[in-house]
Amino acid sequence: MWRRYLMWFAHEHVDFRNSEIQSIISLFNIPMKFIETPCVQKPYWIVELPTEECVKKIASRSVLLKNCIELWSRAKTEEQLHQNLRSALQNKSGTWLGTSSHNVDSHVCPSELIEGCCPADKSFKVEVETFCKHFTMKEKVTKIESFSYLPLEGPVKLKDPDITLSYMEFYGSDPNNVPELPYDLFFGRLIADGQRDLIQVHSLKKREFIGNTSMDAQLAIIMANQAKVNDGDLVLDPFVGSGSLLVAAAHFGAYVWGSDIDFMMLHGRTRPTRFGQKVRTKEESILGNMRQYGSAGRYLDVLVSDFSRPLWRPGLAFDAILTDPPYGVREPTEKIGIERDNYTLSEAHLVNHIPSKVEYGIPEMYGDLLNFAVRHLRLGGRLVCWYPMVRDEYSGCQLPQHPGLALVGNSEQVLSKLTSRRLLTYEKTSDDVHIEGGTYTGVNFREKYFAVGEQSRRERRERKAEELAANARWRPQTRDLVNKTD
Ligand SMILES: C[S@@+](CC[C@H](N)C(=O)[O-])C[C@H]1O[C@@H](n2cnc3c(N)ncnc32)[C@H](O)[C@@H]1O
Repeated sequence: MWRRYLMWFAHEHVDFRNSEIQSIISLFNIPMKFIETPCVQKPYWIVELPTEECVKKIASRSVLLKNCIELWSRAKTEEQLHQNLRSALQNKSGTWLGTSSHNVDSHVCPSELIEGCCPADKSFKVEVETFCKHFTMKEKVTKIESFSYLPLEGPVKLKDPDITLSYMEFYGSDPNNVPELPYDLFFGRLIADGQRDLIQVHSLKKREFIGNTSMDAQLAIIMANQAKVNDGDLVLDPFVGSGSLLVAAAHFGAYVWGSDIDFMMLHGRTRPTRFGQKVRTKEESILGNMRQYGSAGRYLDVLVSDFSRPLWRPGLAFDAILTDPPYGVREPTEKIGIERDNYTLSEAHLVNHIPSKVEYGIPEMYGDLLNFAVRHLRLGGRLVCWYPMVRDEYSGCQLPQHPGLALVGNSEQVLSKLTSRRLLTYEKTSDDVHIEGGTYTGVNFREKYFAVGEQSRRERRERKAEELAANARWRPQTRDLVNKTD
């Protein structure tokens, strides 16, 4: 039976919320109805789902979801919230008193949800959560006691109770403008917590092997969710670095491959990233990370390889490609090559030859990435990749595109006033296209980054010079004043 639920989110990476949840419900084929249009200022969604199992499946994957409650009452005032619950208890017929088409601001659930919820043999607790306002424990206890009329027959148990009832008050999202009374109030039964704990478990601070550009644990999990990674999938990261994306994909049961041009990184021999560490330990490797999280059995291997010359046999199809290509800022964008024409290498030099590298411009790299995805993804498989940009110059039509790939997710993470990166999610929609159709008409981020950086550095220098000049003009006058008063 369809029921109404409150999905409560962490108030960070808000732009990723929709893409993450849409990917998860698409992975599990879950139909979901929005009862009100989501709003970025609010940390919650009100939705209807066909079963409790669906809620649990979503929560088993989402790292942005804090928890999900079966909504018993929603109101704009405390009195109304309690009135709804009392009406539900009196209304034994079990009909919905508030529905999507009538009054979404005041919702009342069928009485049997409340009555059957906590029999004598089930322990329970009531918890209070307030958004944008702090309450003392005493104030929270008063709020909890206001629900004493509910027919909860079991004993109270604060740790691991059978039933948790949640009371939430929303005071807006502007900490500088907190109202006296909440804007929105909710009460219901906790169904499941999201995967926020994974952020600590996978934290880079505790990870065996990291590099300078290791992907943050939370974002890596979001990427795996957006790629719809599932048990037994085959996943590739062709710019694998320290393997953070493989860790996230393997957590959801994928078998993982990686490749990278950097021999030293793949062999755990780059300079240590952690402050104060002089040499890397033997355990520091991508396989070491997999062991750390119990995923060694999901690790296939990593290979030293230049992405501009892919080594995979034709016909090999991955379920997902997760990747964070270099932006040319913290690490160079290079490929194997030489500027000179008709260059040949003598037999004698072949053995110890270390190939030279040339610039691998971002437009060319993203073109290659999309063409590779069309060639090596199964139909319906997903490519999830980061794309750097200068914020002022963003335009959706400039994003890399390919006739065989549909862009199904596009979320921005702001990096600085000038720059951000977008997490792009593509789904392979057709096998019947010309493979080399990938185009990227956007600007070269690296050139722009340094040009804009140079421009703002020049502006800062000019401002500083003007300030100094103004100070210099002002100081003698002050001295003059001082002298005069002397
Ligand atoms: C942003 S880092 C990836 C970081 C990785 N996601 C992690 O968590 O450690 C980009 C990686 O691309 C690699 N790379 C640069 N040019 C490449 C190329 N032509 N082929 C393959 N890998 C390349 C770099 O060595 C670097 O490790």
